[in-house]
Amino acid sequence: MTKEHAENRIAALTAALHEHNHRYYVLNQPSISDFEFDQLLRELDSLEKQWPEFSQENSPTKRVGGDITDKFEKVRHAYPMLSLSNTYSREEITDWEERIHKALDEQEQENLEYVMELKYDGLAVSLIYENGKLVRGLTRGDGETGEDITANIKTIRSIPLVLRGNYPTSFEIRGEVFMPREEFDRLNRERIENGEEPYANPRNTAAGTLKQQDSAEVSKRRLDCYLYFVLGENLPYTNHFESIRHAADWGFKTPSLERQFISRSTSIEGIMQFIDYWDKERKHLEFDIDGIVIKVNSFEEQQQLGLTAKSPRWAIAYKFKAESVCTRLNKITYQVGRTGAITPVANLDPVLLAGTTVKRASLHNADQIERLDIREGDMVFVEKGGEIIPKVTAVNMEFRDPFSKPHFYITRCPECNTQLIRNDGEALHYCPNEAACPPQIKGRLEHFVSRKAMNIEGLGSETISGLFELGLIKNIADVYDLPERELEGIKFNLRDEWGEISGERSLQRKSVQNLLNGIQKSKENSPERLLFALGIRFVGETISKKLIKEFHSIDKIAAADFETLLNTEEIGEKIASSIRSWFDEPANKLLLERLRNAGCKFEAEESALPSSNILTGKTVVVSGVFEHFTRDSIKLDIEKHGGKISGSISGKTSFVLAGADMGPEKRKKAESLGVQIITEQAYLEMTRGE
Ligand code: IVH
Repeated sequence: MTKEHAENRIAALTAALHEHNHRYYVLNQPSISDFEFDQLLRELDSLEKQWPEFSQENSPTKRVGGDITDKFEKVRHAYPMLSLSNTYSREEITDWEERIHKALDEQEQENLEYVMELKYDGLAVSLIYENGKLVRGLTRGDGETGEDITANIKTIRSIPLVLRGNYPTSFEIRGEVFMPREEFDRLNRERIENGEEPYANPRNTAAGTLKQQDSAEVSKRRLDCYLYFVLGENLPYTNHFESIRHAADWGFKTPSLERQFISRSTSIEGIMQFIDYWDKERKHLEFDIDGIVIKVNSFEEQQQLGLTAKSPRWAIAYKFKAESVCTRLNKITYQVGRTGAITPVANLDPVLLAGTTVKRASLHNADQIERLDIREGDMVFVEKGGEIIPKVTAVNMEFRDPFSKPHFYITRCPECNTQLIRNDGEALHYCPNEAACPPQIKGRLEHFVSRKAMNIEGLGSETISGLFELGLIKNIADVYDLPERELEGIKFNLRDEWGEISGERSLQRKSVQNLLNGIQKSKENSPERLLFALGIRFVGETISKKLIKEFHSIDKIAAADFETLLNTEEIGEKIASSIRSWFDEPANKLLLERLRNAGCKFEAEESALPSSNILTGKTVVVSGVFEHFTRDSIKLDIEKHGGKISGSISGKTSFVLAGADMGPEKRKKAESLGVQIITEQAYLEMTRGE
């Protein structure tokens, strides 16, 4: 490809991908398939690697992140980020509306118009655009000064990196970053599968995500953003509603008129109708809102109404009360998870809450029960807030039985009667009887065979329960010793083509055969999968991949001491000690030997192994853009030569491998610590003698 050809192709792909991105994430009207989109993106990425001089600063390839921020820089807002006065009472909304009326003259009163919007339950951000390009993204901070989170903001697909249409040369736009419920659920399913505690609600999870230092991690969590406030000098319209309409033309995701995310009214009746509508409808939204915002539309009138110390007089928020119902708590029971964690559950008189019948609610942990003094037989308030699982929030003392007794939290496992333990600083009790507590064993087996682990089809939770009760499987290694003849005897929950449960023998035999094939096939799984499948606490999919990449085999991980594990990227003390105690357990050593004998893979494939040992014992930090490598491929290359990657420069860093555009902060840090900086050329000479 000629230089000119490359330049043109990069420009064309960049423009096309910005367009497709807008269609997909903002308009929700994609015109090409995901596959085609990925192909174009990949082509652009590889051309940019080859011809970095033509790659645009805000290229669509930036969405995947990669920039690491050591510390978010503090930046003063050009216009302070105000908050809104808010209320839970409709009367106060009426009072506010009357005050607005009185503050304006007759002419203005006649033209007075309100804009009603959803109050998105996320985090406010401020985005700065210059000459049609996103140049900076800030958090709210204390309202005066925010933090620069540009690298993370760029990964949010619905935020345009490059604008379209007739935009002002310089302006700021504010909005709310949030995590859609579906993404929140996906993330929590993943966490539960990994034996981690699920996140509490989408808002806090979005907040935590935006403050992550590794933008590649932010990119994996699909955050979204609605824009609701444009600021700047000499903007080409005179009211708020128009500003939002224009922002949509420039490529922003703005509240949908069609779905009534935004609406206008000249009367308090219209405002109340909007509130009523969303109070009912909000449960059907794909994201959380915590209220409604009402704004005076005209800029001139806004100006005239002015500000109080913290918030504008021209806007107010009406907040929804979390839906709450009162019902009887009949019994407190306890669930034991696969990691042995105990969760107390309130068993309730069934009650309708936010559209669904609720029979059970979370009681969180022992402290919560004690703090709220929750007793069996109490009438309790149950709420469904941002959280997906309803929770008990308080006792209705009016109905407290004077003879009731405080609830005593269990001290022994409800399933196996073992004395429970509670580690310092942890909220949950655990049953330590890993080896013999039935729900832990079944949970581990379910995890072992699950799709992302060993992916054995035909071993659903009912079959596992059946096999466990028959004494045919007691641990994960038993899966590989299932006798075919015994399997013939157990009943599979079979449905024939009419959907009827069927005990037909041929179907039965086919299921046994499928299961045996599935078990056989699973032995081919990579060691990453096997490691994940072992169900070591805190060792999820990502950590498993990291560990195998670093150590190349499960045996080497088993042999690594605490310090060595700790020196691995992303492995902290909590994970390292969990790994150590798993591999130190004699019963687990036995398990591993049986899995090995069954033919499971413990070693990474040849290609993942080092091609030299030249960098063994060296810790390398990679920074900037490279000529011969992508960022991922250079990291892989370092690992293939026995080196270790670290995300930040410290006294332990052997050298920094610097490409073009290495960040000045990193350079300063390396220099101040006396860490050597090596160029790409020098690296090639070192590893290849070129
Ligand atoms: S307007 C000067 N509109 O609510 C007015 N804010 O308590 C600026 N919020 O910090 C805010 N949805 O994080 C506005 N449609 C909306 C909103 C909204 C959510 C948040 C925002 C703000 C907070 C104010």
